[in-house]
Amino acid sequence: MTEKTGRTSAPPAPACTLVIFGATGDLTHRLLMPALYNLARWTLLPEDFHVVGVSRSEMSSEAYRADLAETVRGFITAKGGEAGGGEFDPAIWDGLVSRVTYLSGDLADAGTFARLKAHIAEVSAAPEGGSVLFYLAVAAALFGPTVKRLGEAGLTAEPEGAFRRVIIEKPFGHDLQSAEALDREILSVLSEGQIFRIDHFLGKETVQNILTFRFGNGMFEPLWNRDHIDHVQITVAETVGVEGRGRFYEATGALRDMVPNHLFQLFTLVAMEPPISFASEAVRDKKQEVLLATRSASPEAAVRGQYAAGRVEGRDVTEYRREPDVARDSRTETFVALTLGIDNWRWAGVPFYLRTGKAMTRRDTEIAIRFKQAPLTLFRGTDVEEAVENWLVLQLQPDEGISLQFGAKVPGPAVRLHTVEMRFCYRDFFKIEASTGYETLIYDAMIGDPTLFQRADTIEEGWRIVQPIIDAADREPALYEAGSAGPREAEDLLARDGRAWRPLEGH
Ligand code: BG6
Repeated sequence: MTEKTGRTSAPPAPACTLVIFGATGDLTHRLLMPALYNLARWTLLPEDFHVVGVSRSEMSSEAYRADLAETVRGFITAKGGEAGGGEFDPAIWDGLVSRVTYLSGDLADAGTFARLKAHIAEVSAAPEGGSVLFYLAVAAALFGPTVKRLGEAGLTAEPEGAFRRVIIEKPFGHDLQSAEALDREILSVLSEGQIFRIDHFLGKETVQNILTFRFGNGMFEPLWNRDHIDHVQITVAETVGVEGRGRFYEATGALRDMVPNHLFQLFTLVAMEPPISFASEAVRDKKQEVLLATRSASPEAAVRGQYAAGRVEGRDVTEYRREPDVARDSRTETFVALTLGIDNWRWAGVPFYLRTGKAMTRRDTEIAIRFKQAPLTLFRGTDVEEAVENWLVLQLQPDEGISLQFGAKVPGPAVRLHTVEMRFCYRDFFKIEASTGYETLIYDAMIGDPTLFQRADTIEEGWRIVQPIIDAADREPALYEAGSAGPREAEDLLARDGRAWRPLEGH
């Protein structure tokens, strides 16, 4: 999948229409439209390309285009924003927005889909509307019913030589049972090959680089197992709180929002066996095998936390229970830490510690691999009392890079060891293109490459692993101060195993 980076050498996607349900929503403005803009900039959109925005608000296509122009430019150019502070080229934008039309309609109304069918046939030059990619950027409760109505309207049947595909956002289900039910529902309308379950972490270059790093080098993979690795820590710490998404977050929580999807992408990529090729099924099968070999998480080896008031990056943060649309006695977790064990020959006995949380001290997504300690016999009788810690850290965001920590002799007559670090930073070697991560994913769905999308069995296996924690979620979460590294109980979780989390500050 890595050969898909450096997009300029890839051919434009085949002619198609992209229908976005949820066209007036945050995701469309903040990520999807900037991603389409970048695809246009990289000349990866086809000549015959159209975007149809669908939403409930009554609005003309002109008004929708004006609304997009106003907000999208800001997202594209915002420094530190998701689209990465890129240049805004009005000619490229005009070229893109001229292909955008809008259709207002209620997704509960079959009439909307009949009108959509006629609309697609009108904007597209291809017979029967040609190829169409439907993007469900809507509330999860609408995924199943929308697919059903697309089917009933005859919109999912593929015309000769054309495709009909559906991109489904997360969360896919809210537990194992609901994910299975949703799969049954959509698979009664679509074939698996038409379904693209998105996890935007897989659109990130640094996440795709995990496989290249592991399997494209001769020196790491031989050490990548229980003979040499003591444990693995996967951290996705965020400084943001729930940012006005209280209603969604109350029903979701940190575990469902982040773990069986984003954190499990990192977990499976770091733990999987080498696939035989980058072919989608070869990669996805190996990821699935990791989950199949992973024991269901135990609530006793997990900590759920919720942020109390505090200060994050110099600003006051109110406690979670005082956020809008959040219950004053909410038990929803905004932090979760858990231990996973993989019962296979490579990993048996090596704990994988995962943690993620909102309103933490620092934004940091990293995979840290701790190697086994060196025996100290050689250093007996010297000043060296304990071995240095050997860490290999894949820093996924921000400050993307890879570092290796080891011990070096302090110059001088005595034998003393000092911890040093070698560090590779992406930006020192590569020109980093401003991108949202959705570019790759939208392009791949257009060309029909499912490698970076989630298969039904993988999603269900992910839910199976976290289900025991979900079942125990009526317990009070442990409070942590906003701006901290999470609750004390999370520290205790590792301390019980004689280990400690890497500090979030100052590395
Ligand atoms: C989303 C979650 O899927 O991922 C958010 O719903 C979270 O709660 C976000 O903040 C994190 O993504 P990123 O790309 O900002 O690391």
